[in-house]
Amino acid sequence: MPAFTATAPGKVILFGEHAVVYGRPAIAAPVSQVRARAVVSAEPRHPAGQVHLQAPDIDLEADLDELPEGQPLGRAIREVYSALGVVHPPACTVRITSTIPVASGLGSGAAVTVALMRALSAFLGHPLPAERLSAMAYEVEKLHHGTPSGIDNTVITYGVPVYFVRGQPIQRLRLGEAFTLVIGDTGIPSPTALAVGEVRRLWQADPLAYEALFDAIGQIAQSARQAIEAGRWEELAALMDENQACLRQMGVSSPELERLVETAGAAGALGAKLSGAGRGGNMIALVEPEAAEAVAAALRSNGAARTIITTVKEPGNPNAA
Ligand code: PMV
Repeated sequence: MPAFTATAPGKVILFGEHAVVYGRPAIAAPVSQVRARAVVSAEPRHPAGQVHLQAPDIDLEADLDELPEGQPLGRAIREVYSALGVVHPPACTVRITSTIPVASGLGSGAAVTVALMRALSAFLGHPLPAERLSAMAYEVEKLHHGTPSGIDNTVITYGVPVYFVRGQPIQRLRLGEAFTLVIGDTGIPSPTALAVGEVRRLWQADPLAYEALFDAIGQIAQSARQAIEAGRWEELAALMDENQACLRQMGVSSPELERLVETAGAAGALGAKLSGAGRGGNMIALVEPEAAEAVAAALRSNGAARTIITTVKEPGNPNAA
């Protein structure tokens, strides 16, 4: 039996993080420069049913039945067995690696889950369709933080830019043209659960102020969709700055993120904001393609642990590819 390999990309949220948890729209795009990879190999000489897991990036090597109930990788494997009605799984080794930094807002948890479920379902002879895969990955996302909006599993499973509203079917984002982002990593890990929990506490303490912020962000995401569809980049850049101001008011920015956002602007970016849960993790800057290298270099000399230059494009659209 051959080994089955599957991958899934990282992602950035362009607009609407946090507000998306409260039903407002958000925009996200895959980042194919960083990926999670899962390889499932048959182990005919191992005891029947033994599933051996190797995840060197998180120093994990164990059999499935040794993992605690709430361990996300174990949960992902059990989700696949239960979805496919597998009672006696063939012995196998599942190896997971990823180049997506952990707890940095680039979707590492969802990408690992999606790659793993893809490879394992293919190994079992029943590759799961995207809709099912995304729904199952959402269940695993709940282990990372209790109230995920579902944007990460959606954009990562489908691998296309999306306009996302919690609980609604995927809406692909139409792009007037492809555009370029520079992603800058503060190098500070920021678990999504903490930032989402803190926003929830603040929202409970002052629901009027937070609902108003979520509404403002929702409006920004709607306008951003139109700007992206029409290729109006100056307008899009201004919307990024507005979204960043709301996130700052919400309390999820940080001095390091602010410094990188400011640096990007000074180095010629059109607009910039944090991306993902905030507090640490990554920021994004919209740039003219020819300015990308200079903005990335400025970010690295002002504290970014690493940078990625990525093109947001719409697969299958010749104008936006
Ligand atoms: O996983 P992160 O760090 O990109 O955060 C996800 C974005 C949030 O809106 C903060 C949470 C969610 O579930 O949408």
